[in-house]
Amino acid sequence: MVPDQFSLAGRVALVTGSARGIGWGIAQSVAAAGGHVVINDLDEATVAGRAQELRAAGLSASHAAFDITDEAAVEAAIARIAASVGPVDILVNNAGIQRRKLFHEFSYAEWRAVIDTHLNGAFLVTRAVVPGMMERRFGRIVMIGSIAVQQPKQAISAYAAAKGAVNSLVRALAAELGPHGITANAIAPGFIATEFTSALQADEAFTASMLTRVPSGRWGQPSDLAPAVVYLASSAGAFVNGSTLTVDGGFLAAG
Ligand SMILES: NC(=O)c1ccc[n+]([C@@H]2O[C@H](COP(=O)([O-])OP(=O)(O)OC[C@H]3O[C@@H](n4cnc5c(N)ncnc54)[C@H](O)[C@@H]3O)[C@@H](O)[C@H]2O)c1
Repeated sequence: MVPDQFSLAGRVALVTGSARGIGWGIAQSVAAAGGHVVINDLDEATVAGRAQELRAAGLSASHAAFDITDEAAVEAAIARIAASVGPVDILVNNAGIQRRKLFHEFSYAEWRAVIDTHLNGAFLVTRAVVPGMMERRFGRIVMIGSIAVQQPKQAISAYAAAKGAVNSLVRALAAELGPHGITANAIAPGFIATEFTSALQADEAFTASMLTRVPSGRWGQPSDLAPAVVYLASSAGAFVNGSTLTVDGGFLAAG
């Protein structure tokens, strides 16, 4: 039973990149809090299967496969979602990619792919849902940032730059959209065990040294982050706007 303050009943939530990893964890928590979740990712069969999993568990879910960097696909999908399950009340910009390499070894195409996904993709999906949120005078935008903004140590310059821009974007959106009843916040995860970090998890030396710097002493799980999204999206989080909430087991604090 979800306390009323944290209930998402009656809300439609789109979670980008939610076929697996952190996005899937967020989708499960949002659905468990009573919201209708639209699962988005690149592959149609995978998102359809995930939505079916939630429905089989008695939760409310549908799916929309599209590439968040494709402007026409984003516009069409947001219109389809509004027509089928209702306009998006809660947007979680979670989809992401990583390219680990030294700065001077990035091709322009590799650099742009990272910026396109994290920043321009978030722009496209957010722009598509904001007019409806303004009309209804309600909206919750949550972006998944990263502690890489403060600690960009693993040859991830494009990623750190994109996530820094995401943090700035939520502050700009908070200022601009707050008067319309819309909040925009970011969550900055620490090291979370997903496919995204599989190379790091397989690197025993990295894991051993990283864990000495995490006061919680373990890798994070998607379920460590997902409740923070429910909080920000619910009425409990109504006065939180323009913030970045760090969920890293204490990594940044421990330096
Ligand atoms: N795992 C971590 O340690 C960690 C830490 C900090 C931040 N993050 C961020 O959390 C978010 C989720 O990461 P994750 O660990 O779950 O990664 P993941 O690789 O497991 O999942 C990312 C999902 O996004 C989807 N995706 C990628 N590009 C897309 C596009 N253009 N359109 C639609 N979907 C697309 C992928 O297909 C994939 O299913 C990312 O933004 C990532 O930067 C992750």
